[in-house]
Amino acid sequence: MITNYIKTLQSNTVLTKTFLEELLELADDATNFEILRKTARETALSVFSNKVFIRGLIEITNYCKNDCYYCGIRKSNLNAERYRLTPEIILKCCEEGYGLGFRTFVLQGGEDFVFNDATVTEVIKAIRSKYPDCAITLSIGERPVEVYETWKTAGADRYLLRHETANTGHYSKLHPENLNLDTRKECLYNLKKLGYQVGTGFMVGSPFQTRENIIEDLLFIDELKPQMIGIGPFLPHADTPFKDYSPGSLKETLKLLAILRIRYPKVLIPSTTALSTLDSKGRNEGILSGANVVMPNLSPLDVRSKYLLYDNKIALGTEAAENIASLNKNFAEIGYEISYTRGDYSPNL
Ligand code: 5AD
Repeated sequence: MITNYIKTLQSNTVLTKTFLEELLELADDATNFEILRKTARETALSVFSNKVFIRGLIEITNYCKNDCYYCGIRKSNLNAERYRLTPEIILKCCEEGYGLGFRTFVLQGGEDFVFNDATVTEVIKAIRSKYPDCAITLSIGERPVEVYETWKTAGADRYLLRHETANTGHYSKLHPENLNLDTRKECLYNLKKLGYQVGTGFMVGSPFQTRENIIEDLLFIDELKPQMIGIGPFLPHADTPFKDYSPGSLKETLKLLAILRIRYPKVLIPSTTALSTLDSKGRNEGILSGANVVMPNLSPLDVRSKYLLYDNKIALGTEAAENIASLNKNFAEIGYEISYTRGDYSPNL
């Protein structure tokens, strides 16, 4: 039964709501769940072999003008100790990362007025000229198309902007009124048009999320056709309005990872920090569900504990070098290894 659904996922057929409803329901069954995961794993192995790409994550600022109800660095969280890295420190992080073998740097941060368009442009240019062989990924939120263009011209290659939820009503339950799904989608289409490799995604088990919402997320992803897809469980943060909501489930996340991998064999899919935080085996379980990217933290140790989107975030005190060593060891346990290449999206694999 499930095999027919897998065949449809693998075909060019346009996905429908009914199909996805049936698939998700079938996948609740333990045997089907394992078949899905095995298929996803084999798919990733056939495209990427047993290699996992690494991205050096640099959390450049935790100032944010937004007030998303789920996020620990929302502007109303007065307990968050705010910081902003200087361009010099960001370059130091890259230098350390480069030495450890990283060939992608991800600059992630809140939507920070002070870390403005010009400053980011300067940082991109500096990284681009110092590390011409590295990919630069940005993850700093919604900006006008002109700004995205400037950053692309300055040398940025990729952009991560999760859509968070593809349902308007649900979007408004997760975000204040000044944020809306249409703007979010417009940003994503602008980024694609500009030639960025684009990543989107959503939280699994976010408050008020229904199965229908998840189906809408999958349909949106099918329409956008991103090169990267990031999903991870929602995890509560004590200083947010969602502090009392339950975390998303490991099984549901693994199920969705598997479906995404089967549908999009060549797409880059991280096994996220949130997944590792939810479950100590989460990272490897993600890889065994078809994920092929991990994003170790290159941020300076003294700011790590300040970039808290959710509670109990892992690896707060672990040096990047140590992190790489333990990743290698962990991956070896399941027969995988780190790839030290740039790991661009390639339609020709
Ligand atoms: N739990 C899990 N993921 C979160 N994010 C933000 N807050 C949380 C949370 N409490 C995710 C969002 C955002 C990404 C950077 O982190 O999906 O896009």
